[in-house]
Amino acid sequence: MGIEILPLTEADIPGVIQVIQHAFADDPYFKWVFDGSKFNKQRNYNSLAARCRWGINNAIFQVAKEKFPSDSSSSPVLGVSCWLPPHPPSKPESWYSWYQDWKLSATQLLTNIFYLGRGGLRANRYWIWKDQQQKAHAEIWDDPRGYYFCNIVAVSPEAQGKGVGRMLFESVTKIADEEGVKCYLESSKNVPNVQIYERMGFEMSRTMECRDGEDVCMLYCMMRNPKTE
Ligand SMILES: CC(C)(COP(=O)(O)OP(=O)(O)OC[C@H]1O[C@@H](n2cnc3c(N)ncnc32)[C@H](O)[C@@H]1OP(=O)(O)O)[C@@H](O)C(=O)NCCC(=O)NCCS
Repeated sequence: MGIEILPLTEADIPGVIQVIQHAFADDPYFKWVFDGSKFNKQRNYNSLAARCRWGINNAIFQVAKEKFPSDSSSSPVLGVSCWLPPHPPSKPESWYSWYQDWKLSATQLLTNIFYLGRGGLRANRYWIWKDQQQKAHAEIWDDPRGYYFCNIVAVSPEAQGKGVGRMLFESVTKIADEEGVKCYLESSKNVPNVQIYERMGFEMSRTMECRDGEDVCMLYCMMRNPKTE
């Protein structure tokens, strides 16, 4: 039985969140930005669900599932990826996209109010990361067509190393190659992820050091040039 890559649907959201929470449990960025003793899994679930709903309309949010002859809607989610489509910097943001971003922020604010806080998120570290990210983009994002930006990629631990990640990548890199557009990602893990992304055609472009006193989180910015053959 094969694997297929499908657009995210509302019904997939619980499976997607399970994969993300499982695959990122030991992620260095996640451990740096969240205070583990205050982490609220249910609040995190609600926040990710809002991000998924936003992604259905505004991103390339895809799931990997086992192909069932009759119905794949009930088959478990094995992997997930979320990519932002390229946005030329010269083009102003559309009203639709502005409204969608505003709606997501309002939902996240209501989540904070409902859970009386950010569920362990260290807001100062979040802003340290955002600041570093802005500096990195200003330095290395110079393509007027913009980039396919891989925001999330996760495969459930039992399905890792079997080609699911490659399928999730290729469903977008194939389009990027056809359009002649570059791809970009920020990995929070050096080993083994940088090597895995190199297999997908990405190259190291820059590192980001997010520092809060003695606690440092390194991120690895990687770029992929379109393949022409
Ligand atoms: C990173 C991740 C998405 C890759 O997905 P995957 O399904 O395990 O990867 P694949 O099996 O498709 O392997 C892709 C390529 O990387 C190689 N690879 C896989 N695991 C590897 C490892 N541990 N070390 C070196 N290379 C590896 C494979 O050989 C393959 O190359 P090939 O097709 O040229 O032979 C997945 O491992 C994951 O979810 N990890 C935990 C969450 C995470 O780190 N997310 C990203 C945060 S930045």
